[in-house]
Amino acid sequence: MRVIIIGASGYIGSILSRGLGPTFSILEINGPNTRSGLSVDFTSLPQVDEFKKLVEPIDVIINCIGFKDINRSELEPDLAYRINVLTVKNLLSIFSEHCNIIHLSTDFVFGGSSGKYKESDKCNPLTVYGKTKLSAEALIRESAAEGAIVRICAPFDNQAAFPKFITESISKNRVIDCYQDAYYSPLSVLHFVKMMGNLILSLEGALKTLHFSGERISRYHFAKLYSESLVGNSELISPINREKTNLLPMSDISIDNHYTLQFLKYALPPIKKQIEREVRFEI
Ligand SMILES: NC(=O)c1ccc[n+]([C@@H]2O[C@H](COP(=O)([O-])OP(=O)(O)OC[C@H]3O[C@@H](n4cnc5c(N)ncnc54)[C@H](OP(=O)(O)O)[C@@H]3O)[C@@H](O)[C@H]2O)c1
Repeated sequence: MRVIIIGASGYIGSILSRGLGPTFSILEINGPNTRSGLSVDFTSLPQVDEFKKLVEPIDVIINCIGFKDINRSELEPDLAYRINVLTVKNLLSIFSEHCNIIHLSTDFVFGGSSGKYKESDKCNPLTVYGKTKLSAEALIRESAAEGAIVRICAPFDNQAAFPKFITESISKNRVIDCYQDAYYSPLSVLHFVKMMGNLILSLEGALKTLHFSGERISRYHFAKLYSESLVGNSELISPINREKTNLLPMSDISIDNHYTLQFLKYALPPIKKQIEREVRFEI
């Protein structure tokens, strides 16, 4: 099966390129800021059109293009729109009737107050980032595209931002303040990739919306488990409350994965086991 990963130079794209490479025939397409390999600027419709002529036939495109800087998106909404929405519009106008599309979206399409959001729950993004990602989802649903919208929540390995911050702080013997009242649903990279592999093999018919996430957990609890797995204790992990700091608007952005795991027939191990594996894994 011929699979193209666009946005292959990014964090998620490179994880998928590496992880799916042994199983599928993968073509990696980078974005305009990467000088090596093949690159296409998906904000340019003529470039996307030319690209199609070069790469046909294709079975699946995995869209890992995105602008995920939440703070910068608030300051530069036009830039966030161009990368998160215009690229999807161009992708759809050239490819929607020619191959399956797997589009990566985010838990940030939800408001983040009640948590455990299901695929069918109403979205209510609070951030420009979340709003642009939801607009892209709407374009895909309105199009003829088949495939899946995959909402991901904090896929982690030992190079992801939060685990890296925990590891660096511990190595410098620094206390790490973590919210005990802010919840999310992180998923280890190993299982993210395996679930994507299963999804590629089960794609057929109408577009699906799926939640690739782990169990609901607080930032504090995650950091404790991570530290215990890394150094055998969690002495440097200190609980704080978001209400006191007033910095984080979302109390619970966790997304529910029951429907997705059932659809993919996938058994996900507990978060503790996922963390233990990622802490030790050499990239
Ligand atoms: N990372 C997460 O924790 C997370 C969580 C939830 C959802 N997501 C979603 O997953 C997707 C990928 O995230 P990421 O973490 O991998 O982001 P990333 O590391 O910032 O990578 C973004 C990718 O988009 C490419 N790109 C940007 N503008 C482009 C353009 N005009 N044309 C073609 N490609 C372009 C970049 O290419 P160049 O740099 O080569 O130009 C890069 O490959 C995003 O849609 C994001 O919303 C990520």
